[in-house]
Amino acid sequence: MSDNNSIYSKPVTFSVIALVAILVGSIVTAFYPLARDEMHPKLDTLKQYTALELAGRDIYQREGCSVCHTQTVRPLKTDVLRYGDYSKAGENAYERPFLWGSRRVGPDLARIGGKYSDEWHNQHFLDPRKFAAKSNMPVYPWLENVNLNPTTVESHMKALNFSYTMDEIVALSDKTELEALTAYMQFIGTSVDKFSLVVFSEDDYAEYNNIVKGKPEAAVRGKSVYLSECSGCHGKRGEGDLAMPLAEYGEDMDEMTAFMTIANGLDGFMPGFINTMTKDQIAGIVEYLRVMSAGAGSGTVQ
Ligand code: HEC
Ligand code: HEC
Repeated sequence: MSDNNSIYSKPVTFSVIALVAILVGSIVTAFYPLARDEMHPKLDTLKQYTALELAGRDIYQREGCSVCHTQTVRPLKTDVLRYGDYSKAGENAYERPFLWGSRRVGPDLARIGGKYSDEWHNQHFLDPRKFAAKSNMPVYPWLENVNLNPTTVESHMKALNFSYTMDEIVALSDKTELEALTAYMQFIGTSVDKFSLVVFSEDDYAEYNNIVKGKPEAAVRGKSVYLSECSGCHGKRGEGDLAMPLAEYGEDMDEMTAFMTIANGLDGFMPGFINTMTKDQIAGIVEYLRVMSAGAGSGTVQ
């Protein structure tokens, strides 16, 4: 107490030193790390947006797609099973602003790239109900009729510091907003390895006790699932549309192959359904495929 040289008896000096200590501490522990590269991870596989993809991203923002769709796969088993590898910080290096969203009225889109063909996306934006009968997604018919404005897209590319060629910009005037949005869809998530979501194995099939086989009512239920989930690509009566006809597929069908195809999908062509349907529902569709083909012979299904 009586030691006048003690720092504790000099309130002003003490405050200044304390302040400096706190400032240095804050800079070292909070601000310095922010400036380090590790805090801004970027996957090696991550590509910058092309002008067309960026234009599509702008349309995604303008139309408010992120009100209904998230773009983050959470590291939870259910999310990963349904959508694929969980979202990484390093995927988001070029996301300005990020479009993670917070509400899933529709499915997450973080792994949508490559899941469907371009043609599927174009038709889905014009008529979502063609592919999912109960979808509440709006239609976007105007996108098909509006061409992109190269000047706007170019200035946006500049602002974000993305590299582009003049040819790329000039070509935009021939592209519609629909094409741009589809190009953006196909870009999303492509920096992450798609691990194959083969979740239903031949062993699983052997263990599955198929109680719906040969039951007409299962085929009836299978038909209604077929109409809502499959007809958009394979046609309402299996006549084929975006994908091959199935009208005669059931004639000499290998049941296990059919079941496994529907369960696991075909990489890059057709989504798998094992995570969104029950096994009995899938078996019901297989029943329906057989019935549909029997009908093809008698002329009821073309
Ligand atoms: C009112 C909510 C709503 C809005 C707005 C909306 N969607 Fe959807 N979207 C859905 C629903 C529900 C589905 C699932 C059914 C379907 O496929 O239509 C879906 C499905 C999708 C799918 C297929 C996903 C998959 O894995 O099968 C894509 C791609 C998609 N939407 C893109 C978009 C884009 C791009 C926009 C903005 C132009 C948009 N959506 C706006 C509700 C919405
Ligand atoms: C996004 C479009 C799409 C959807 C939805 C879809 N498929 Fe497919 N399917 C395809 C494509 C593409 C192929 C590959 C053959 C081709 O080139 O058309 C295929 C192939 C098949 C095959 C043949 C596999 C083989 O052995 O060669 C069967 C069976 C099949 N689909 C059944 C279904 C059923 C049942 C559903 C609904 C539960 C369904 N598909 C939904 C696109 C789709």
